[in-house]
Amino acid sequence: HEPIDILAVETSCDETAAAVIRNGTEILSNVVLSQMKSHKRFGGVVPEVASRHHAESITQVMEQALEEADSTFSDLSAVAVTEGPGLVGALLVGVNAAKATAYAKGLPLIGVHHIAGHIQATRLEAEWEYPALALVVSGGHTELVLIREEGQYELLGQTRDDAVGEAYDKVARTLGLPYPGGPELDKLAKTGDPSVPLPVAWLEEGSYDFSFSGLKSAVMNTLHNARQRGEEWAPEDVAASFQQSVITVLTEKTARAAAACEAKQVMVVGGVAANSGLRAAMKEKFEESGVKLQIPPLHLCTDNAAMIGAAAYINWKKGNFSSMDLNGVPGLPL
Ligand code: KG4
Ligand code: ZN
Repeated sequence: HEPIDILAVETSCDETAAAVIRNGTEILSNVVLSQMKSHKRFGGVVPEVASRHHAESITQVMEQALEEADSTFSDLSAVAVTEGPGLVGALLVGVNAAKATAYAKGLPLIGVHHIAGHIQATRLEAEWEYPALALVVSGGHTELVLIREEGQYELLGQTRDDAVGEAYDKVARTLGLPYPGGPELDKLAKTGDPSVPLPVAWLEEGSYDFSFSGLKSAVMNTLHNARQRGEEWAPEDVAASFQQSVITVLTEKTARAAAACEAKQVMVVGGVAANSGLRAAMKEKFEESGVKLQIPPLHLCTDNAAMIGAAAYINWKKGNFSSMDLNGVPGLPL
């Protein structure tokens, strides 16, 4: 058995990333070039700016990934790339770079779903036990996904409005915190008390869906109403209260879904899985339940190409290759 090395590319949002992954589990290299500084002055990701940065650096990032892996094109078994969901112009840079490479080097091409990538990031750390339940929490997604067998994703619930990361970023902005707001709000919340009354959106009995726009509006109204009375809530207390409301509903619904599906393991993945409060609450919730909990290290929670390489290996094993008409699909379903 020769090792299967896959060169993976990820450009769906604001990180230009490439990695070489061996047999779906071993990271030979993992290069992530963040565009954070360029978007900071706009207070959010500007799609056109993101595409241009990807176009400027994709070749170099891919070369660096090969170099750090001590690998050449002839060592590779395939080239993989995020085909969606994401920003269309950003996706197209990665898709076209991967297609060009696959064509020029005579390698198979593998299109990967970004969320499958986030979920498979946990494979880089440990084996799975099925059925497995994933809570996907990022800037664009809030989903509970059940995996009964390898490569099969069943959507149990999702947000009906804002993604949780989006809510974090918007509330952070309301509190005057710099972009990206999620990690800043997380830090601030640690110093506050959850003493500000805010709602928790449970939705209908038994629903695994989420909603965060009401909570976001409640934060804004609470700040506004206090100001009209000539009062002020302490920002750290607002942050702690917001974080508590979010974490309560995320952990509780995940626990209910895990019990209902008799999940053997639970994963928390995506950018918001870097949140310290969420990590601690999940550990506490699942510690004594006998259900294995897997949360990737921080650098594998936020966008990266190692996770795309891990997900691509499943496609490789199944012989699921993409043709040269692979396209970037902004709303690709899981
Ligand atoms: O997965 P990701 O890197 O990109 C997307 O696919 O969206 O997630 C980015 C999101 C942003 O909304 C960011 O604010 C949030 O993850 N985030 C956090 C934390 N670190 C990143 N949110 C809360 N607490 C954190 N520590
Ligand atoms: Zn992501």
